[in-house]
Amino acid sequence: MHLSRRGLLYGTAGVAAVSLAACGAGEDSKQLTGFTGIAMPTRASDRWVLEGADLEKRLQDLGYKTILENGEDDVPAQVAQIESMVDQGVEFLIIGAIGNTSLGEVLSKAKDKGVTIIAYDRLILETPDVDYYASFDNYQVGVLQAKHIIAKLGLTQDTTEQYNVELFSGSLDDNNSQYFFQGGLDTLEPYIYGGSVVVPSNETEQDATAIQQWDRKTARTRMAQLLEDHYQDRPLHAVLSPYDGISRGIVEALVDADFEPGSDDFPVITGQDAELRSLKAIKEGTGQTETVFKDTRQLAEVAVDMVKAIVGGGTPDVNDQGTYDNGFKFVPSYLLEPVDVTVENYKEVVVDSEYATEEAIDSAPADVD
Ligand code: GAL
Repeated sequence: MHLSRRGLLYGTAGVAAVSLAACGAGEDSKQLTGFTGIAMPTRASDRWVLEGADLEKRLQDLGYKTILENGEDDVPAQVAQIESMVDQGVEFLIIGAIGNTSLGEVLSKAKDKGVTIIAYDRLILETPDVDYYASFDNYQVGVLQAKHIIAKLGLTQDTTEQYNVELFSGSLDDNNSQYFFQGGLDTLEPYIYGGSVVVPSNETEQDATAIQQWDRKTARTRMAQLLEDHYQDRPLHAVLSPYDGISRGIVEALVDADFEPGSDDFPVITGQDAELRSLKAIKEGTGQTETVFKDTRQLAEVAVDMVKAIVGGGTPDVNDQGTYDNGFKFVPSYLLEPVDVTVENYKEVVVDSEYATEEAIDSAPADVD
């Protein structure tokens, strides 16, 4: 079994000098009005809808004009939306990219007009024109997911029994996917090498485990196939899933195959994003048992603070300058901490912080096909 090493997976271009100079700032900063284009990637996952609206409100509260668009997982549509924002004279772009390498040309056009470009949650690759990156510690997301599996299965260095685990990863065109996956793999690795965790499908590479566009139905299909090919005669103990939508697709396939959520032979399943439907499953014990909460209100605040700093003639705060290499440079980043959420702490983390109410969790509608 070959496990990619973190360094290899992340290694792209060599070290480049980090410039903290905001290209939209400087002499002209006094004239900046804060006009910002917000390009969100999809409505298929709740967070982007909430964040688009949140970003818009925060910017408007500062008196800045905004344009908000959603790319609906369609790369050419997102490029056209960004192009139109640039034509309309935005000074800032906050972009949750769909295709991580598809924006070079339109960003170069934006940069020619002095636009400051902030990659939002997902890093944009292979362009020198990204100024800042606002995100979470994406590697840590995978670490938390794998730690949940280790804790739930009660694995220790002395474990001699074998546990069957399958791995899922996110969309290949999303730069975050490799970080989530590698964090998970690195954390499971000692148990894999020690023999207590086995992956019966032998699908341990990012390519083989990827779910394009993070699509729930694609995940359901892959899980159904894995069950058919490898689990006719053996138990499945856990599934490393990178995102709640994928987790729910995995649960659907298991239910189709007569696994009973909540029963002893239902596998441990992880997730990410604290989507209401997934929180409901965690609370009621009817599916995945974990999600990784990323407080997207904080993320929106970080991105808006970056705009605000530059409008004010200053330089945005960053707390990481050596992790996110986009192929041209290490992009100055502000990274927030993700939080592990289970039935034990969802109330404290998600409800008490007013991210979601108990009522909203309880009444979360089922996925529709
Ligand atoms: C990733 C993001 C995750 C999840 C996923 C699917 O880029 O970091 O939190 O939202 O996209 O939308």
